[in-house]
Amino acid sequence: MIASDASTSLIAAARAARLHAQSRYSGFSVGAAIETADGTIVTGCNIENASLGLTVCAERVAMFKALSEGHRQFRRVAVVADTSEPTPPCGACRQVLWEFGGDLEVVLASLTREIARHQLAALFPHPFDRNSLA
Ligand code: THU
Repeated sequence: MIASDASTSLIAAARAARLHAQSRYSGFSVGAAIETADGTIVTGCNIENASLGLTVCAERVAMFKALSEGHRQFRRVAVVADTSEPTPPCGACRQVLWEFGGDLEVVLASLTREIARHQLAALFPHPFDRNSLA
């Protein structure tokens, strides 16, 4: 599918963010871009660490940046990697994206094309969230 709607600029932002990835241990660079309800785009890249468990994925970096800048409503997130298959958010990122973004549209792309779109609810069914604590 060729992206020709609002996700085009979101994917472009994720591709640009990917260039900042700190991915020396895995060699796998990822970029993410979140679109807020007012149309602001906030980006992130994966940031690895010699203590491997401290790695933070691009999606969580983007969401935490957005939250720290005061954004609270989100529409969609784009994730870009240099792969022919989609790079969907990991389980930890799905939890965080769900917590703060709800049922976001998740746009998965490579360096050259959009590969897939999903609703986060489809990627993260039966969540543990604030309703679970009621
Ligand atoms: N990674 C992301 O940043 N986002 C994903 O959706 C999948 C994985 C990162 C984590 C790690 O730095 C590298 O990719 C390999 O797992």
